Amino acid sequence: MNNQDKQLAQVMDLFTTLLDERRSQERLEPIAPAVPPEVLLDELSLELPVQGLSLDGVAARLRAVIEATPSTAPGRFYNQLFGGRETFAVLGDVLASALNNSMYTFKVAGPQVLLENELIERMGKLMGYQDHEGTFTPGGSLSNLCAMVVARDHAFPEFREQGMNGSKLRVYMSTHAHYSVPKAAAILGIGRANIVRIPVDKRGRMLAPALARAIDEDVEAGYLPLMVNATAGTTVLGAFDPIEQLADICESRNLWLHLDGAFGATLVFDERFQAEFAGSERVDSITWDAHKLMGVPLSCSVLLLRERGRLQASFDEVAGYLFQTEDDHWNPGTRSIQCGRRNDALKLWTNWLHHGTAGYRARTERMRDLALLAADCVREAPELTLVKEPESLTVCFTAEGAPAESLCEALQDAGLAMVGHATVEGESVVRLALVDPGTQKEQVRCFFEDVRDVMRSRAIA
Ligand SMILES: Cc1ncc(COP(=O)(O)O)c(C=O)c1O
Repeated sequence: MNNQDKQLAQVMDLFTTLLDERRSQERLEPIAPAVPPEVLLDELSLELPVQGLSLDGVAARLRAVIEATPSTAPGRFYNQLFGGRETFAVLGDVLASALNNSMYTFKVAGPQVLLENELIERMGKLMGYQDHEGTFTPGGSLSNLCAMVVARDHAFPEFREQGMNGSKLRVYMSTHAHYSVPKAAAILGIGRANIVRIPVDKRGRMLAPALARAIDEDVEAGYLPLMVNATAGTTVLGAFDPIEQLADICESRNLWLHLDGAFGATLVFDERFQAEFAGSERVDSITWDAHKLMGVPLSCSVLLLRERGRLQASFDEVAGYLFQTEDDHWNPGTRSIQCGRRNDALKLWTNWLHHGTAGYRARTERMRDLALLAADCVREAPELTLVKEPESLTVCFTAEGAPAESLCEALQDAGLAMVGHATVEGESVVRLALVDPGTQKEQVRCFFEDVRDVMRSRAIA
């Protein structure tokens, strides 16, 4: 064994040891109480040394940091729209780091480009696309941003070259859409004030007639509509905007329709969501985060485009030192917002190999069943109120006499669960996200027992 091999073997050993330790810690203390940053800064040695440390020195520092890092592993983490630690996905992720290819050209990434294409092909087909294209990005926010860039260039082909021409652009989304949309509007110079927020119905779905009215009034007033952002799985209620109705409105006005499925796109695997996805083949672009419901570690998002050529029209640049083939078909860098780009595809491909499409279907159905079970648990508890029937995988509820913020805090302090709160129709609610198929039904029931115990045993202010 040469020195590098020896070091790699030691590092892999360390990886296994640290992961084992983390799992034991999670078994004993699944949710650790929150420690304020000032205390951590005091307790941990984070400063970078002048002289490098030995393996033992690095291990000691890492161990301390890992011990203090909140756990997002299955069972008690319901706080956000990602979670879990899936072995095959981690394998793909670790290998992607070890191989260290940049995904801009076939020359330096080889078959990694091909498997990335296979994923884009398959995911687009699931959405009903026929001859589409796509790109991986580091998250739904970036996918939404890229979609807005493409929509802008579709509406104003000269924009890319000439910059702003003073047009008053408008982007439409529902009041429940994700904040990445106004953020992208700010970044692109469209302006956050030019985001038009369309009201939703009782279930949190964009009201199509209100959208049509808003667009037509804007046109009358001299604005130039650029894009409608529909959501498949809103962040809090998990609701799906009515795609067919929005597509009718956009097609008749030649307006770009983007579907932000960062959260909900994976539910396309579940037959029960067929109606929600009706018309997905008509939208111009789709954001799909694999790091939310497909069990792969952050980050891994895909932007799909219904028509080929759109990405290149918006993101291609001349770089003779990099793109050196006649045909850029196999060079994803010509279709990406990034130059150097991490290989986020390998972990998704590896995990998909392991689960198979049938496995993904079953997992997705399991997540939905967990959400339905959670809603039943709320209904059965007299002191809890279901705010809405769960549209997909989030369950929002309130607790009598216990403000949502305090309840979430008490659950974490007691080491029972990490769960977040949100505002629905002006009311603060607990938002339970059932996004980890590794969660057992018993754990969901246990969560509600814990909620009731905490309510009984603690004075929640
Ligand atoms: C509907 C929706 N869109 C976009 C995003 C942003 O995704 P990311 O966190 O991957 O940037 C989220 C995140 O929760 C989301 O819920």
